[in-house]
Amino acid sequence: MSPTVATELEDRKAFILANTRLQRTPHAPEIALWLADEITPIWRMTEEELAKIGLPPPFWAFAWAGGQALARYLLDHPEVVRGKRVLDFATGSGLVAIAAMKAGAAGAMGADIDPFCEAAVTLNGAANGVALSFTAHDLLDLSPPQVDVITAGDIAYEQPLAGRVRTWLAAARARGTEVLIGDPRRTYFSTEGLEPLAEYRVETTRELEDLEIKRTGVWRLL
Ligand SMILES: C[S@@+](CC[C@H](N)C(=O)[O-])C[C@H]1O[C@@H](n2cnc3c(N)ncnc32)[C@H](O)[C@@H]1O
Repeated sequence: MSPTVATELEDRKAFILANTRLQRTPHAPEIALWLADEITPIWRMTEEELAKIGLPPPFWAFAWAGGQALARYLLDHPEVVRGKRVLDFATGSGLVAIAAMKAGAAGAMGADIDPFCEAAVTLNGAANGVALSFTAHDLLDLSPPQVDVITAGDIAYEQPLAGRVRTWLAAARARGTEVLIGDPRRTYFSTEGLEPLAEYRVETTRELEDLEIKRTGVWRLL
């Protein structure tokens, strides 16, 4: 299938199936995701070319270092989410929400403002035998939802997003929600108010990152 504008959920799913490959996540190989790689067409497309076919930058087609670290942490510490309601903010591919379900969460919702993520989350959930829910609402405009745990992977790559997310996560924490953040110490990441939980060496995509292995941490908001 050649890349064309995909507006409806089914079109978007077909686009993802035609333009990505089901691959093991490097740092959480228990989870397979539909991801771009060097042999898939969208890999080499510039932002201008993507815009021309109506595709926002496909963050969902990559497993970002922060999300991979969080997924690893949840799979290795299932007690953190077992039986709990989890919201994975800025879910992208849905990787962390899938890890939460595999770790025994009662339910997991992915939130992302890119509408393509709904298709990615649905396909990736199915590929791993878990059902996820999804919202494309910008939750940062609302008070944080009533869930037990909020996860946020790789959300410090640009401003004002990084600042808005931390304020919103702090509001969630203030009313008792556990908040876990995974980040390879991107430009707008701050450890202030965070308790370190784990540190990993995460394999990433050379084309997206300056290094092939990124030191990536998982933190808990105090
Ligand atoms: C670097 S990706 C990380 C994806 C995933 N968490 C991971 O680690 O693989 C950042 C994601 O944040 C999403 N995003 C940006 N602003 C957002 C907002 N206001 N609400 C929800 N998601 C947002 C983008 O669409 C993108 O999917």
